[in-house]
Amino acid sequence: MRKLTVAIDGPAGAGKSSVAKVLANRVHYLYIDTGAMYRAFTWAVLEKGIDLSDEKAVRDLVDTIDIRLEPQADLCRVYVGPTEVTEAIRTQRVSSHVSAVAALAVVREKLVKLQQAMAKEGGVILDGRDIGTVVLPQADLKIFLTASVDSRARRRYLEVQAKGGSETYEEIAASIAARDDMDSHRTVSPLKKADDAIVVDNSDLDLEQTADVILGLMKERG
Ligand code: CDP
Ligand code: CDP
Ligand code: CDP
Repeated sequence: MRKLTVAIDGPAGAGKSSVAKVLANRVHYLYIDTGAMYRAFTWAVLEKGIDLSDEKAVRDLVDTIDIRLEPQADLCRVYVGPTEVTEAIRTQRVSSHVSAVAALAVVREKLVKLQQAMAKEGGVILDGRDIGTVVLPQADLKIFLTASVDSRARRRYLEVQAKGGSETYEEIAASIAARDDMDSHRTVSPLKKADDAIVVDNSDLDLEQTADVILGLMKERG
């Protein structure tokens, strides 16, 4: 099969990263987690105590930050300079600030360039919010992966419970709905289905079934 570029966009908790990892493993592609890059930038903003309204400080960070992804079999290690932040970028503190950071045009410009450079050889699966619309408008296959707020919140709730977390289902559902709202309504690169993207609703599919559907579409294109 020809080495494709695959774009997967969709709302928080739709299953993008889990499905992308399953697919990347099956077809030996590289999985590039663009959300992790926005989270890494947000981690640095919090670490340095930068006020997002301070344009100069944000610009300086954009100019100097070194974000690296090291994709491995079933996870993508993330570094900011010499510091590994793979775990640190998953905290609720980062989650609650990331949408505001991702709304800044200077930040997006920088990260989009990095993502395009990482994708240029093909054989890659990128997931995010603007992959099919902005990062890779020429992608071979564009998927808009979605699921109901209820099923997304239920999945997250199970994850939180498994980790011994104390968040309630209602809190998680509210946080997901708030992020959907911010991500879809921002001026710069809002979450939006590309005209030529295929909608896959996986509210009632498990990971393997969802991967099967997308793999079928990849085979058609490849
Ligand atoms: O995994 P989850 O859906 O919770 O989020 P993520 O993919 O880690 O992305 C975190 C945040 O980064 C999103 O809520 C968006 O605000 C932003 N993001 C973006 O703006 N553009 C992307 N290509 C990827 C993420
Ligand atoms: O990356 P994104 O925020 O879109 O979602 P995710 O982190 O990949 O998936 C959120 C949770 O839903 C994970 O625990 C997945 O294992 C689970 N999931 C599922 O149970 N069934 C699916 N069809 C897709 C995801
Ligand atoms: O999506 P992925 O599996 O890569 O990361 P995650 O650890 O599931 O965390 C990403 C998102 O899950 C956060 O942005 C939150 O919206 C949600 N989450 C949450 O609300 N509460 C938690 N304790 C953990 C995750």
